Amino acid sequence: MNKSGPRRRSMVGWYDPRVLAHSAYQMAIANVFGRHSDTRLIEALASQPQSEFDYSAADGDFWFDYVADTGDGWNPTYAIADALAMPALALGDELTHAGKLLVFGGDEVYPYPSRNEYVVRTETPYAHAFAGRAKPDIFAIPGNHDWYDSLVAFSRTFCRPERGFAGCRTKQTRSYFALRLPANWWLCAIDLQLGAELDEPQVQYFQKVAARMDDEARLIFCVPEPRWILEDAYPKHESYEEDTSTRFLEEKVFKRRARVFLTGDLHFYKRHENAEGIQKITSGGGGAFLHPTHAPGAKTLRNGFEEVAAYPDCRTSARLAWRNFLFPFLNPKSGWLYAFLYAMSAWLASASLEASDVIDLPTAIEAAMNAAIRDPLNGMWLVSIVGAFIFFTDTHLRSWRILGGSFHAVLHLAAAFAVGWVALLLTVHAFDLRYGSTVQLLLSGVITFLLGGPVGAFILGVYLFTSIQVFGRHGNEAFSSLRIQDFKQWLRLKVAADGTLTIYAIAIDRVPRQWRDAERGGAATSVPADGRATAPRLIDKVIVKPGRANA
Ligand SMILES: [Fe+2]
Repeated sequence: MNKSGPRRRSMVGWYDPRVLAHSAYQMAIANVFGRHSDTRLIEALASQPQSEFDYSAADGDFWFDYVADTGDGWNPTYAIADALAMPALALGDELTHAGKLLVFGGDEVYPYPSRNEYVVRTETPYAHAFAGRAKPDIFAIPGNHDWYDSLVAFSRTFCRPERGFAGCRTKQTRSYFALRLPANWWLCAIDLQLGAELDEPQVQYFQKVAARMDDEARLIFCVPEPRWILEDAYPKHESYEEDTSTRFLEEKVFKRRARVFLTGDLHFYKRHENAEGIQKITSGGGGAFLHPTHAPGAKTLRNGFEEVAAYPDCRTSARLAWRNFLFPFLNPKSGWLYAFLYAMSAWLASASLEASDVIDLPTAIEAAMNAAIRDPLNGMWLVSIVGAFIFFTDTHLRSWRILGGSFHAVLHLAAAFAVGWVALLLTVHAFDLRYGSTVQLLLSGVITFLLGGPVGAFILGVYLFTSIQVFGRHGNEAFSSLRIQDFKQWLRLKVAADGTLTIYAIAIDRVPRQWRDAERGGAATSVPADGRATAPRLIDKVIVKPGRANA
């Protein structure tokens, strides 16, 4: 890469302590201010009334693309952007064409939104992809990651038509929109903030749009997350119990016109279908790390929808989970957290130990436990650690959460003790230092710190592997740790003149790792320079015929 080339970011390291701390801070702020000072209301008050956007006057086939969960590392983000920007793409016997529209389905940037992150992680890859090629109109709805700054950077990026995005036109002035497509198809995309919150101007907007749909109108309904999967995976979770907002819009406002539901949020491809042929498609492979398709494993959802396609397949997904045993190597920065945790635990435990307490392991364990009970600081430290691990545990049954979290914490505390014990043996026996001397204590602390990082990270990897493989939990944590940039996909949709909708799910199994700076049409672009990368291929195709499903 020469000096004038773009900044090609690597995948987000979710276990980097700085990313963890900043994400926690952003989420806390967003939960307070996002909910109490709703940016959607401010947008609605400040901007001109937004009508639907009319694309119904197309001649022949009308093509458009749908991408969600993009704006992570350069390799997967650009691989998808470049593939969808090609004027024509052959998929076996079928020739598909670049879309007139590009719809972003949520989570347009990682790990958290800011003007710079949108530019570097999302807009630059797409500007390179569209350089010297036809430029689609861009529409976007926010996902939870876009909401972490209460939608400020998202609004600046996608809701200012005078600004545009990646050299393309944007038209929306709000974080939700409706598109009138050819052959009486409509696409409505909603913003549910960080949960299932609908604001009044948004409801009024879609009521006005729905009033212009006739009885034969058919709807593609874009939502920010796959409630149909989540409510089955977390049946006791209060957020997923009653999805009144989406149901209200679907039933009362759109009068069950939706034939296709599109979403991202989970970073894989899954298609669910019911007996009436209604499609619920999760397509979150636009750039972010891969999520597992093998767990939780219910193939039939509670509302009668059946899983008919998944990418990557369950066997591949289950095989990838084994990489958690390499956790310390995949997430080296996570070691700092465990180094600190282990060194602090060993320090507090050793503070009240005498030379007579460390003659053998059982005596030392008993003395350390007594010390934890007697010393309030030591005791509070241990209680906070157990509390933190319970908070981290991914299950929404309180009893399981307490059990799993406590077990995980005890594993780490036992490992911290073992590491401290090894440090003590090394310093006293191998280095022949007097127990309790300044040099012995300092050296022991350094050894505990150095060993604690990789040991703690390894235990976390084993815990995540067991959680996902045995209990079907921690899908997010057990795969964000792997930082898998491959198995990316997006949707290409075609509305034919007779009203037939064809949805192509297109995947890239292995994205390029190397790029070359180039120029196309007088603008900077990047071209793949990695012989091991694979070409886009068709992984699923569904045809939705004209006519009302529920007529
Ligand atoms: Fe996402």
